[in-house]
Amino acid sequence: CGIVGYVGPREATDVIVRGLELLEYRGYDSAGIAILEDAEFQMRRSVGKLVNLRRRLHAEPTAGHQGIGHTRWATHGAVTEANAHPHRDSSGRVVVIQNGIVENYLELKGRLIEQGITFHSQTDTEVIAQMLGLYTAEYGDFQRAFGQVMSELRGGNAVVAMDQTQPDLILAARIGNAGAVVIGHGDEENFVASDLPAIVDYTQHMVFLEDGEMALVRSTGVEYIKLDGTPISKTTTTVAWDPVSAAKGGYKHFMHKEIFEQPRTTTDTLRGRVDLETGRIDLDGLNLSDAEMQQLDCIYAVACGTAWHACLINKYFIETLARVRVEVDYGSEFRYRNPVMNERTLLLALTQSGETVDTLAAMAEAREQGVKSVAILNAIGSQAGRLADGGAIYIHSGPEISVASTKVFTGMLMAGYLFALRLAQARGTLTSAEIREHIQALIEIPAKIDTMLKDTAVYDQLADLYHHSTDMLYLGRWVNAPIALEGALKMKEISYIHAEGYPAGEMKHGPIALIDERMPVICIATKDHVYEKMLSNVEQVMARGGKVIALINPSDKLVRSKADHVIEVPETTPLLAAVLNVIPMQLFSYAMAVRRGADVDQPRNLAKSVTVE
Ligand code: G6P
Repeated sequence: CGIVGYVGPREATDVIVRGLELLEYRGYDSAGIAILEDAEFQMRRSVGKLVNLRRRLHAEPTAGHQGIGHTRWATHGAVTEANAHPHRDSSGRVVVIQNGIVENYLELKGRLIEQGITFHSQTDTEVIAQMLGLYTAEYGDFQRAFGQVMSELRGGNAVVAMDQTQPDLILAARIGNAGAVVIGHGDEENFVASDLPAIVDYTQHMVFLEDGEMALVRSTGVEYIKLDGTPISKTTTTVAWDPVSAAKGGYKHFMHKEIFEQPRTTTDTLRGRVDLETGRIDLDGLNLSDAEMQQLDCIYAVACGTAWHACLINKYFIETLARVRVEVDYGSEFRYRNPVMNERTLLLALTQSGETVDTLAAMAEAREQGVKSVAILNAIGSQAGRLADGGAIYIHSGPEISVASTKVFTGMLMAGYLFALRLAQARGTLTSAEIREHIQALIEIPAKIDTMLKDTAVYDQLADLYHHSTDMLYLGRWVNAPIALEGALKMKEISYIHAEGYPAGEMKHGPIALIDERMPVICIATKDHVYEKMLSNVEQVMARGGKVIALINPSDKLVRSKADHVIEVPETTPLLAAVLNVIPMQLFSYAMAVRRGADVDQPRNLAKSVTVE
């Protein structure tokens, strides 16, 4: 979602709506704005595209020099004006906009309801607004109340807020990494945004908030503090005005930026689609009836490249949760092998661009045989979206510029998991209590990814040691076998080191012959029911002098005591471990490519989307 805030001499509405338009590429289902006009908030919100908000503002204009605005990702049914941001507390005194997911919102909401608060929406953001309203009244201090509310939220959030009684002040804070907050420093005017492009036309002097930091934004200047009020000093970065550097947002490469966006993008894939209270999954865009989902007996999951690896993992998700057989195919193979299909078959196409010709051809083949297609995709308005007569599930990861796919891969896993849960809901293979547990585990993923991005020094150390390698092996089992394939692909694509991924059990049938002291072997050994088997693979590699780099959970002792190097991955459910385990793969190949001086974002011979056969 996009956030824009402004305080200064200009008409705030103009600056905010224009900024939101520049974030349109992130999609939207509703948009809203709150302007402080004569010491009162004027709120305008509308469902649908930004143009609807524009029309609304034309019919009911507001005038004021301070305001905040928001645009949401396309979700669906639950898209109502009441659920659109900004949100106000019951007293009407404060307004709030949020990016992220409040993981403990049920607990906080319960507490507020006990205190007699009535809610007007189903969003976690209203919980923030209501808490902020209560604390502000209690402390008589908006800034302290804001810091206190932020410190009680769990998860990753970017929040901006205003208090009607505090003109010329916007507060912004960030916890975790699900939402970026950038403060633009102007001349007698200042800006807040979720993304640089929204404000870079007005100023190039930017400050990026880090985890646990808060900004007090006034027209005359900006103060930075910790949530507890301790002042901090921040350095201003001057960003280049050209669109490419602006889009890179301070990162050296798009790939680096896109890896670090994942706490936010995985949040965006979930947004508006899961209901922790009822255990319902609502997949906007899905065009299959419950009856159609119930009678499915085979899903062909089809894609190319990294998306094909996402298909392999979605097979585990769907088969485990919804008990439907999934066959995974390459787009380039599917239509040439005369696949067996009938009225109980579904084609599931995974494609970032929605333009990959082989994947489109598979969808066309299915259509010819009367089989429906569902697409999981990123690019809005692409061909796959139009071909998908069973519906298009957008992952909402925003543009992915780097050829090597990162955030889209995790987006495809999150969306695939939601699809598996939606099938399970229709087919009755999980109870709603079980679905709630799965949702809880899913919504904790973004913050766990965030933890993994906090300290990436280990990847530079590994790159120092191994950048001269000519071959590498990646091993994993069960849901992590495809992660081994994806790790090897990433390494090949951007560092040009020959790398192979294998299900670890297959090692003894071939690749073991390659292992010697020059061979780094990446072993995925996080805890699940095949952990013991991985342990024995680690021992076999060590016995032949191979260098083991193991992915382990923090509590692990056995693999830790044996491996040459370990990378810690937070615990999650065994299935969702795949989403976390790919992060070290991305970071390691990135560090290696940088160390080898390769052209990270545009590797030789590769293209972002392959529209020829
Ligand atoms: C190319 C890209 C890959 C991508 C694949 C499929 O090979 O380099 O990153 O995974 O195409 O693209 P799609 O747009 O269909 O996901």
